[in-house]
Amino acid sequence: MLRRLWLVAVLLIAGPAVVSAEHGEADLAGTAEDSAVAGTAVLTDTPQGLKVVVTIRQAPPGTHGLHIHQYGRCGDGGKAAGSHYNPDGVKHGFLMADGLRSAHAGDLGNIEIGADGSGILELTVPNVTLSGSRYSVGGRAVILHEWPDDFSQPTGNAGGRIACGPILLMEPGS
Ligand code: CU
Ligand code: ZN
Repeated sequence: MLRRLWLVAVLLIAGPAVVSAEHGEADLAGTAEDSAVAGTAVLTDTPQGLKVVVTIRQAPPGTHGLHIHQYGRCGDGGKAAGSHYNPDGVKHGFLMADGLRSAHAGDLGNIEIGADGSGILELTVPNVTLSGSRYSVGGRAVILHEWPDDFSQPTGNAGGRIACGPILLMEPGS
């Protein structure tokens, strides 16, 4: 009996904390009026870095560059988001391979879209945060590109911006 009560107490304390941590969400929508591309990004601070889970639907199959751009705006075909978030003025790269010294703070690399038009990218990016640091991405925008990011300079030659979503900070519990 005591043991069961203890278990209930642990669930009450630990359960809600897991689902209600502050996190960021971006709803991606196609930048062209007739576009069906859609998706979501969920961003969470972890001890290892910023966990990013991006899910895309109804996109053209293939490899597409995916970045966090500077401003949380998607107008003008996604151009309103500005360029890659680059607080240190460093070169373009891939955060998971190059780190913040040799990649923009928004350089998430590529997402693979399957024949059914959907794809998932999951990364945990060291030293990037949702809020509260020089490398915070809350309030910026996730951009899905037309072409692969080939990691060339200055921004990976990834072509147009086919989907965009501002990263909103979600209150605990939402
Ligand atoms: Cu980009
Ligand atoms: Zn970049």
